[in-house]
Amino acid sequence: MTHTEAVKRVNELRVLLQRANQSYYDKAEPIMSDREFDRLLEELASLEDEFNLHDANSPTQIVGGSAGVIEGVDVKVSGENSSSQKQESGAVDYIDGSQTMHPTPMLSLANTYNADELRDFDRRCKDILGHSNYTWFVELKFDGMALRLRYESDKLVLAATRGDGRKGDIITKNALTVNDIPAEIKNNAGNLVEIRGEAYMETDVFAAYNQSRIDQGLQPFANPRNATAGSLKMLDANEVAKRPIRFFAYDLILNEADQSLASNVVTHDAKMHYLESIGQRVCKTRWHVKSIDEVLAIISDLETSRKTLPFETDGVVVKINEDVYRTELGFTAKAPRWAIAYKFEAEQAETIINDISLQVGRLGTITPVAELEPVLLAGTTVKRASLHNEDEILRKDIRVGDRVIIEKAGEIIPQVVRVLDINTPNRSEPFNMPEECPACGSKLVRVEDEAAWRCNNVTCPPQVRIRIEHFASRDALDIDGLGSSIVDQLVTAGLIHSYADLYKLTMEDLLPLERMAEKSAKNLIQSINASKEQPFERFLYGLGIRHVGVTVAKDIVAAFGSLQRLREATTEEIESVHGIGIKIAESIRHFFTNPEMNQLVDRLVDYGLKCEYESNIVENAKLNGLTFVLTGTLPTLSRSEAAALIENQGGKTSGSVSKNTSYVLAGDAAGSKLDKANKLGIPVLNEQEFLKMIH
Ligand code: IVH
Repeated sequence: MTHTEAVKRVNELRVLLQRANQSYYDKAEPIMSDREFDRLLEELASLEDEFNLHDANSPTQIVGGSAGVIEGVDVKVSGENSSSQKQESGAVDYIDGSQTMHPTPMLSLANTYNADELRDFDRRCKDILGHSNYTWFVELKFDGMALRLRYESDKLVLAATRGDGRKGDIITKNALTVNDIPAEIKNNAGNLVEIRGEAYMETDVFAAYNQSRIDQGLQPFANPRNATAGSLKMLDANEVAKRPIRFFAYDLILNEADQSLASNVVTHDAKMHYLESIGQRVCKTRWHVKSIDEVLAIISDLETSRKTLPFETDGVVVKINEDVYRTELGFTAKAPRWAIAYKFEAEQAETIINDISLQVGRLGTITPVAELEPVLLAGTTVKRASLHNEDEILRKDIRVGDRVIIEKAGEIIPQVVRVLDINTPNRSEPFNMPEECPACGSKLVRVEDEAAWRCNNVTCPPQVRIRIEHFASRDALDIDGLGSSIVDQLVTAGLIHSYADLYKLTMEDLLPLERMAEKSAKNLIQSINASKEQPFERFLYGLGIRHVGVTVAKDIVAAFGSLQRLREATTEEIESVHGIGIKIAESIRHFFTNPEMNQLVDRLVDYGLKCEYESNIVENAKLNGLTFVLTGTLPTLSRSEAAALIENQGGKTSGSVSKNTSYVLAGDAAGSKLDKANKLGIPVLNEQEFLKMIH
């Protein structure tokens, strides 16, 4: 390679790696696998060495992305002067949405991928220390999002993301919604405590959560890590509270801690026990061993046993246990010299793209899918891989006929990592997104600000089929016996064109269908009839309104009480319901202004489906006709408990204070809503007064 070629390649790699870093850390949407990233980083580092092209801003020298600025929020850096934070408890205001300097940087870890590299690491430690008296601590490498927690006088005062390693985003309110993160710690004698750990989602819980997003017409997350990071960066803590995020603490930072604590807790093992004793959640799967051979034996066992863990792990972290040796070894610009990550191989396979097909979702979103030459990967035969969207295909330049590497790194659906032989001549034409829906021929529309294309034809057959399946699904009208093959046959035979048509089906319609005996036909008609008795919130959810999932449907039904009132509601009125944002409100309005949809709804009402709220309202309800706004943290009741009490007593909750508000129920740290209530002269209650009112 000539010098000019090297300069060109180095620039290319820096741009690519920087983009990958930003996508990973700031947007939580990785554009390449970790392994691919490490390979490119290694290529860059060796070119920089060989051609002397070092640069302080190169991705080889910098950790992470830019500190992810949360959109739409003015960024102010809190706690720049970290020494003042130490003494005066609470002196620094850690404001959510602004940024904080990490007094001890949040560094990265060097990666190894095989036993030789791990032995080299052990040798380097031994050479620098001049002995091998150190012991090893082995932990799982949790695949989530790193967080920093700070407790002052035993109270959580700050939770922050890693950001660029020196400065991160403050997300304290969001972190407080995570059950595993205690708001207060115990047995700590008031010591200042800085904790590092990982927020993550359990694999199965993530899968169920993602499915509920798909059901609501929302974009699913690619993996649990993206879901966690995406959630914790959101601006609405109420929404974060609904996401199943968990947390493991994996480090206690003693630089800043009180001397008594720092001088007593001098090994990693002791730190883990201390963390447990103050009420932090620490992973029980951890080992303290003497030699690197023992570390390798643990890794070898984990290669298979990790598949039974409830969460994803892409490797282990191998750390020296004793603080004295850690201090002696110190840090490079990016990572400690006393710890390393050992990454398990992502499971990959090579295959050929036979075709690129387009899948139409319930709400019309078009997803390109790679039709693969079947190949065995991680124990299953893979025939299809998601290509996500048009931009992704063009970025990776994936074409029909290409030989590709596919990977299953914990993701639910296999991904195409890259094209092999990208420079061979005679490749087929680059992918071209068709202008028309493959199923119904309607013109596709690219959704503003999204990479997705959508078919907006409500009568598009696959959309109709999926909408009917959704209507009949367990959380909706729960129609037993109406599986996808029956829906498919009914739609293909022209017997039904919408979910409303289900209620006019007769035995004569059903009997000619494949595998439909008299008994099953009878049962199906019976369950269709029985579904008319399902409560209104299930009916509303079953309609398949974009962004309206099970919880939103319940909240809406409780707030409006009847279909009639919901249909008459303005966007503003819908948005004022607690927990409902503008996007949902607009989507509901949009649905009920569509004449075709309204006609379907009218027919369902005529068939006798329930369209009135049947609440658990107690007899002699005390809050009939009253509207409450909740703000701040109540001493004993959670927000949803308070809301349920109000609703059970016939009252309503709203998200904003207006002249229609009857009472504001305010707890600790109540903010602008309380100010507004005072300004408008709305009576304000504390929890005790509220409880008195209803009991
Ligand atoms: S110790 C100086 N322990 O891995 C960094 N990190 O690549 C020391 N991680 O940002 C980190 N599990 O988010 C450590 N058991 C564990 C971990 C762990 C996951 C993450 C962490 C860090 C990244 C470094």
